[in-house]
Amino acid sequence: MAVERTLSIVKPDAVGKNVIGEILARFEKAGLQIVAAKMLQLDDEKAGGFYAEHKERPFFKDLVEFMTSGPVVVQVLEGEGAIAKNRDLMGATNPQEAEAGTIRADFAQSIDANAVHGSDSAASAEREIAYFFAAEEICAR
Ligand code: PPS
Repeated sequence: MAVERTLSIVKPDAVGKNVIGEILARFEKAGLQIVAAKMLQLDDEKAGGFYAEHKERPFFKDLVEFMTSGPVVVQVLEGEGAIAKNRDLMGATNPQEAEAGTIRADFAQSIDANAVHGSDSAASAEREIAYFFAAEEICAR
């Protein structure tokens, strides 16, 4: 399997619950390496730009409001099949539908306050990583 990079975000609800470390530990235990990380307070422009593809969706305003409601931790995860592996670790978008043992089943409340974001494809990963990190902020191991 190819080594990939994917963007992960620990969302404001999970930061507020003080479970950043527990979530990052799950990535590491699954064999993913954190090759970049930072904590940020997003503003409307930065959050809105990140979710630009959802601009016309009815939940867009709520999503931006939620993502700016407190700090987030953004990371680049690297490893074999990192994009799909991270999606598996996260579980379904709606925590009510997330499989037991996944991050969202364990830490998320609702479809908007759902603890984590992960890139859904190689193209998204490339765009999303570049959206948050300059090349020199990513430390290849
Ligand atoms: S899609 O159609 O598959 O692209 O959309 P989906 O993955 O379901 O959702 C995209 C992101 O929007 C968030 N979302 C919501 N936020 C607020 N309210 C509602 N109702 C809602 N529905 C979806 C969802 O958490 C996704 O965020 P990310 O960060 O991409 O996981």
